[in-house]
Amino acid sequence: MTGLHSSNREVTMTATSPTELSQPSTSEEPVILDVRGLWKVFGPRADRVAGTPLAELSRAELKERTGCVAAVRDASFAVRRGEVFVVMGLSGSGKSTLVRCLTRLVEPTAGEVLLDGHDIRKAGDKELRELRRRRFAMVFQHFGLLPHRRVLDNIAYGLEIQGLKKEARYRRATEMLDLVGLSGYGESYPDQLSGGMQQRVGLARALAVDPEVLFFDEPFSALDPLIRRDMQNEVIRLHREVGKTMIFITHDLSEALKLGDRILVMRDGGLVQTGTPDEVVGAPADDYVREFVRDVSRSHVLTLRWIMRPPSGEDPLDGPELGPDVVIKDAVHTVLHADRPVRVVSDGELLGVVGSAEILEVIAE
Ligand SMILES: Nc1ncnc2c1ncn2[C@@H]1O[C@H](COP(=O)(O)OP(=O)(O)OP(=O)(O)O)[C@@H](O)[C@H]1O
Ligand SMILES: [Mg+2]
Repeated sequence: MTGLHSSNREVTMTATSPTELSQPSTSEEPVILDVRGLWKVFGPRADRVAGTPLAELSRAELKERTGCVAAVRDASFAVRRGEVFVVMGLSGSGKSTLVRCLTRLVEPTAGEVLLDGHDIRKAGDKELRELRRRRFAMVFQHFGLLPHRRVLDNIAYGLEIQGLKKEARYRRATEMLDLVGLSGYGESYPDQLSGGMQQRVGLARALAVDPEVLFFDEPFSALDPLIRRDMQNEVIRLHREVGKTMIFITHDLSEALKLGDRILVMRDGGLVQTGTPDEVVGAPADDYVREFVRDVSRSHVLTLRWIMRPPSGEDPLDGPELGPDVVIKDAVHTVLHADRPVRVVSDGELLGVVGSAEILEVIAE
């Protein structure tokens, strides 16, 4: 578990049972993107699906009856300012289509996408261009760098389009180059850099325009595992430093758990579950999600609130005290070395106790 999560939760979670889990600290932030009843249907007369009995059909039935593919089916969710919101699901589940609908790179078929309360589906060409230039930025799997431009010019590209003067855009681009740890590479060309470095350039380019929302579509899936881990840490660090709202697509659960404040799980175009990493792992909504999280080491994701029990009459209540949001693996030492149950306390209130038995049960899984 990352510092991103633990620090968030320690401050804010005061609920008393997993079912009442509150969100990380971003839950107090205003909603930046509010998606309501969003559909994207590909195929003939795609607009006849939403709001009609056809909408009730499964993806496969709809395809058979009409030849249409419901890439996104009736999606509703809200992303809060400053949140890292992960979209996860198997290949073909609709992740890219969903996220592209949010920037209208793909035109939604029905529904609303409210950015700070304004429906971007109603935006005209000019407004949309401004949105994409200034408020949104994207990072893709294939870095999409311009091969004939130096690294610095690649990073400055969005600023050039914004019409920023040369000196100002190079100043900003150089700052971004330093921010992503590539100081000194400004004069290089993209093909002189490794894949990981190229994706850092992609990150720098996206950050250069100081967007409000950063969209990532499987940005690290072409990188080998070690570089990938570096880049995940880089995103966590950048998120801490710049605090942007991030919408991050991945089909890699460990990436989702590591980066996400919340995770949205998609299947066949529909939303199956939206929750914090510990909610998705601790209380999967159905067998599809359960299958996804099956191999996760629960002690690394779940917190004491998931395993605490009510104290029984025999429990001595003077054991060590820990908060409900301490990740289990971080509590192992304390619990196993105490000769009495650990008390799980929040705001001075005893929520439950955790003894060796509860800890060992999770670890033995
Ligand atoms: N332009 C298109 N025309 C027709 N069907 C499309 C189009 N784009 C996507 N689809 C279909 O919509 C569904 C969702 O595709 P999408 O690319 O959003 O999935 P994904 O979850 O991003 O998958 P992956 O993990 O492979 O990137 C798929 O069945 C796909 O075939
Ligand atoms: Mg995709």
